[in-house]
Amino acid sequence: MMLILFHSPKGGVGSTFLTAQLAMHLAERGHQVTAIDFTYQDSLKLHFGMLPSQTVAGMTYAPGDTMVVGGVELLNGHAITEDRRFLDVLEQDDPGLFDPHRITLLDIASGSRALKTRLLSHCDLHICPLLPFAGSLATLPLVEPGTPVAQLEKTAFVLNQLDDTRRLSRHSHSFIRELLGDSLLGTVRRDEAVNEALAMFEPIPKFAPSSVVRIDLDRLTHAVERRLGLVADEDAGAASLQI
Ligand SMILES: Nc1ncnc2c1ncn2[C@@H]1O[C@H](COP(=O)(O)OP(=O)(O)OP(=O)(O)O)[C@@H](O)[C@H]1O
Ligand SMILES: [Mg+2]
Repeated sequence: MMLILFHSPKGGVGSTFLTAQLAMHLAERGHQVTAIDFTYQDSLKLHFGMLPSQTVAGMTYAPGDTMVVGGVELLNGHAITEDRRFLDVLEQDDPGLFDPHRITLLDIASGSRALKTRLLSHCDLHICPLLPFAGSLATLPLVEPGTPVAQLEKTAFVLNQLDDTRRLSRHSHSFIRELLGDSLLGTVRRDEAVNEALAMFEPIPKFAPSSVVRIDLDRLTHAVERRLGLVADEDAGAASLQI
């Protein structure tokens, strides 16, 4: 079982966007992938080109109905979090909730800290998106209060919405690189096509095939594969040089 959790102490930083895009990129690279939306907003599906009126199957304690979009099995996990049994199940060493043969990506809302903490003990990788703005960088000490960010074993960071034409963005990038070292998994540039694709209910590869975010997400996917030991070292080495 491979579990990747997306959570940031700050909202609006791209957790849902990155969950969806990484899920689709990993699926494109031949992995069996499930993405679970644990947020009340139910917006993960929109990044797959689904409409707000379309329903995603709810997560259950046993394998149930699922739908596959963009090569990814999609589930909604929010309802199950309101069941008291769910938190108890998460206390077990092996909650048996996630398919052992798949990579499962979990989108957790910034406010759901207790859920994040319980899931963290089961996950292989926690990805914390950051934005190159003071409001996001100021929340770094809140990722795991009391532990310096570069020392968090399971946590890696992605700097999202980078804009090299802006001085603050460039300086934030250098600062974050220095502070986080290898814990910075990658960067994703800002491209308005992300929001336009959402508005058109189309996935990015269809709406904006030449978007720069596709290049960045491809590199990020290599970095995630390397971090999880899913690719041979030489493949991964070549990918990491490009970040
Ligand atoms: N690289 C990018 N370029 C342009 N827009 C982006 C990029 N990444 C995310 N966005 C946009 O930023 C907004 C916030 O992204 P998203 O909803 O993924 O953040 P979130 O952390 O999940 O927020 P929330 O706290 O509301 O769950 C969305 O409108 C999304 O389309
Ligand atoms: Mg979100």
